[in-house]
Amino acid sequence: MAMPEITEEMIFECFAAAQQSTAGSATAESFVDVEEYENQIMYPEFARWAEKAGYPQLATLFRKVAGEEKLHAVWLRELYADIGVPSRGEDTQRAIDALTTIRANCDALIDMNPDGVVEKALRVAISVEEREYQDIYPRFRDQARAEGRDAEAAVYQRVVDSEAQHADWFRAALAEFEAGRVAAVH
Ligand SMILES: [Fe+2]
Ligand SMILES: [Fe+2]
Repeated sequence: MAMPEITEEMIFECFAAAQQSTAGSATAESFVDVEEYENQIMYPEFARWAEKAGYPQLATLFRKVAGEEKLHAVWLRELYADIGVPSRGEDTQRAIDALTTIRANCDALIDMNPDGVVEKALRVAISVEEREYQDIYPRFRDQARAEGRDAEAAVYQRVVDSEAQHADWFRAALAEFEAGRVAAVH
């Protein structure tokens, strides 16, 4: 039986509720939500897929990054304490509510092609991290710097460095995975 092709778009599709809502308003405050979303939903779900597909080492990596995204949310919340703590995002809540559907969809995909799903999850993770360390947070940093808010700029730089490290970890993991050097436990 031919394996259905699993695309990165299909995985993004699984997270459509969160993807759509975060794309529109890329204000600095909304990135507290994005970080919490990555911490609570996206990376734990990727970890669950990796576990289910038989790759506990990759599951550990996804969980480790999830933990650091929590830290980013804390740093950003501290930053915005002066200008009012952002309210808990409706977007994040909506994504949490949609998780049951997401899980059902992805479990079906994993049954069809576990390695394909794990590989695409790594690619999605890389593109999410790249967007953050190459585009989003450098822009926030530069704007803060231009407006003389140096302490804020320093926090954004810390986030940039951390997201760059995440991208490195995921790129290395993908290379290992593609080379067949990630131990599978079935
Ligand atoms: Fe982050
Ligand atoms: Fe990250």
